[in-house]
Amino acid sequence: MTTAEIVVQVAVVGEEEDVGHGAAEATGRAPATTVAAVSGARILSAGDGRVRVVPWRGDPSLAYLTPLRGHPSVSGLRQVLERLPAEGYDAALTAALPPPDQRIYLQAGFTVHERLHLLLRPIDPLPIVPAAGIDLRRGRHADRPGIIEADGAAFPAFWRLDQIGLEDAVSATPSSRLRVASLPGDRRVVGYAVTGRAGSRGYLQRLAVEPAVQRRGVGAALVLDGLRWLRRWGAKEVLVNTQEENERAVRLYERLGFRLQPEGLAVLRLPLASSA
Ligand SMILES: CC(C)(COP(=O)(O)OP(=O)(O)OC[C@H]1O[C@@H](n2cnc3c(N)ncnc32)[C@H](O)[C@@H]1OP(=O)(O)O)[C@@H](O)C(=O)NCCC(=O)NCCS
Repeated sequence: MTTAEIVVQVAVVGEEEDVGHGAAEATGRAPATTVAAVSGARILSAGDGRVRVVPWRGDPSLAYLTPLRGHPSVSGLRQVLERLPAEGYDAALTAALPPPDQRIYLQAGFTVHERLHLLLRPIDPLPIVPAAGIDLRRGRHADRPGIIEADGAAFPAFWRLDQIGLEDAVSATPSSRLRVASLPGDRRVVGYAVTGRAGSRGYLQRLAVEPAVQRRGVGAALVLDGLRWLRRWGAKEVLVNTQEENERAVRLYERLGFRLQPEGLAVLRLPLASSA
């Protein structure tokens, strides 16, 4: 999930505008972010900064705030928040933020909703991963319903992706790779990964494996596939984040050479009714 210095490639016209999704799933500090054209998202000015607002994964009552370029002021942020109840929102949720970016939101009354680990590995040397006996292929448009289904089976309800969230993950970095896993002789999607790259930095944006085929090496195979792709395109290091309580994922990433970073990220939340 995205954070600090996000460069959004949209033309900013006036104070408010319709923009697409994007930038929502990058991990750690993404230096560059593109925005796909999806309606419903808006960029609002907040002092010297800009904040993208979009309903959280199909929930029209939860505003998902992604800080964009610049530094929002507390008063600017409050002005943004004051507008949200009239638009049907009753709570606001931030993207995953590193500690320096959390400050302004905490000052505006947000509290920590969930803490995330941030893990990093240099691209070299690639990990050695035993063959998992699965087929990996490029995720195509026709695979998207299967991807959403596998994601829904793997993640707890709150973190499940919808189609827009998937587009966000794919378009959060200038280049990305969507790969799906299936069992031999059966094209049904049993797992998938989105890997992104911005310059020399890679991001494991999303990884999910259906519970029925977990613990067979599918997750590791998908991660390795993403690492190979990143290496081919010159990435030097890779970041991933995951919920602190997600021990399985942390174990998998550590086994593959990722190391926990001293400072994690946090998703912050504010009930809007009580902020008035
Ligand atoms: C995290 C996740 C992707 C791992 O996928 P996976 O396919 O189960 O991963 P792997 O099989 O490669 O490795 C997981 C475990 O299986 C074990 N394993 C791998 N192959 C095995 C085999 N043939 N037999 C027995 N165990 C095996 C691994 O040693 C590892 O064990 P550990 O967790 O005790 O270290 C999966 O659990 C998932 O989708 N979780 C929900 C979504 C999620 O958390 N996504 C990532 C965080 S954003």
